[in-house]
Amino acid sequence: MRRNRGHAWLRRLVRESNLATSDLIWPVFVTEGTGVRSEIESMPGVFRLSIEQLILDAKQAADLGIPALALFPETDPSLKSERGEEALKPENLVGRSVQRLRADVPDLGIICDVALDPYTTHGHDGIFESDKIVNDATVDVLSEQAIALAQSGCQIVAPSDMMDGRVGRIRKALDGAGYEDVCILSYAAKYASAFYGPFRDAIGSSAALGNQGKQTYQMDPANSDEAIREVALDIAEGADMVMVKPGMPYLDIVRRVKSELCVPTFAYQVSGEYSMIAGAANSGWLDRSACILESLLSFKRAGCNGVLTYFALEAAQLLNDG
Ligand code: PBG
Repeated sequence: MRRNRGHAWLRRLVRESNLATSDLIWPVFVTEGTGVRSEIESMPGVFRLSIEQLILDAKQAADLGIPALALFPETDPSLKSERGEEALKPENLVGRSVQRLRADVPDLGIICDVALDPYTTHGHDGIFESDKIVNDATVDVLSEQAIALAQSGCQIVAPSDMMDGRVGRIRKALDGAGYEDVCILSYAAKYASAFYGPFRDAIGSSAALGNQGKQTYQMDPANSDEAIREVALDIAEGADMVMVKPGMPYLDIVRRVKSELCVPTFAYQVSGEYSMIAGAANSGWLDRSACILESLLSFKRAGCNGVLTYFALEAAQLLNDG
């Protein structure tokens, strides 16, 4: 077996998977104000950006060959409410960011989350009524949110809420409103994970959520067959692409989805995964660049068509330099 490993050129020749800048989707946090770059404490090296700063970085991402970014708002607490109405306003922070991005960085694709957690006072993704997250009332609101996002110019809506039946309803709502070309990237197999902690700090939902988990709608980390059912349902309802989330602890799920359902498959290297690598590297315990590239390559080997990663800019720079 070692003969094929003898030279760098030979290793390249027999390599089975490759990581390219076209595999990267960059999740970005936006915030109000001007000139703001505020570092997220639990994600050293990741910043919440005000809109003009976002434009600067987005131009850089496009120049590096990154196909798309995914936007996440840090909503002003005064705009949050029990039912998250701010989510439906076309002029909210995400709406304004999308408009600017489309105008100033037209070649970069834009993905927006469909879920209420950045907008609700309780930090849940859906409508909270008599002690539970109600499914169908939430799906009604999510369809409206998807239309508002499409109106602002978002090309891919990504429902991340894990309600049942939302992909079908969102597809119907988009088509009905004349947005047949807007794609749906479904967070189809999204697990109730502790690795989302730093993200919840970033968008300011962790305090409200407290130690209340999302286990009644996100998946049990113990389950694998259930992920296949979730993905199959979302595809049947009209999802154009699916996502597994988190990433590295769930690569077995990625492999099953890709092998069994053969659909465009993405994974999200989530905030906690970022923080583990960044934190260990900052302590001098890991080689940051090497671990970034190895972790991202593992997604490709598992069968991903692309990866959402907070390392996207840095990884693209490394790939372009290397
Ligand atoms: C919520 C949402 C979450 C993430 C993306 N969309 C967090 C959650 O479900 O609580 C997590 C991303 C990350 O941890 O990087 N709709």
